[in-house]
Amino acid sequence: MPVPWRTGRLLSSVAGSFARRLRSQRRTCSTASTAQPVIAAKEPFRVDLEAGKRYAWCACGHSKKQPFCDGSHKKAAPRISSLKFKPEEAKEAWLCGCKCTRNPPYCDGTHKEDFVQKAELGSHPQS
Ligand code: FES
Repeated sequence: MPVPWRTGRLLSSVAGSFARRLRSQRRTCSTASTAQPVIAAKEPFRVDLEAGKRYAWCACGHSKKQPFCDGSHKKAAPRISSLKFKPEEAKEAWLCGCKCTRNPPYCDGTHKEDFVQKAELGSHPQS
């Protein structure tokens, strides 16, 4: 069934807006700025997660309660928010400490790369 021209244009506009917003919020470790996370640790944090409990993973790297958010991003990195998640089952998990994972909040091994291992703790990694 063909989409009427106006509806198609509206859907395209909404999709484009959503994609732009996602790109602007995307966390990368490629450039240094207050919009980029800093390295909190060069290894993941092992945690025991409870089923159904709501967690807020620190995405900016400034929290003193790693790997969880303590609100530091509000001053140190206002363009970065914590990542909220709620595990469906209790489990042991390894949460990212370098803040460069491509699978947040979980470690994906990116911390083993040179751009993380050779960077200073608390710095913006340069990839
Ligand atoms: S600690 Fe960040 S990817 Fe492993």
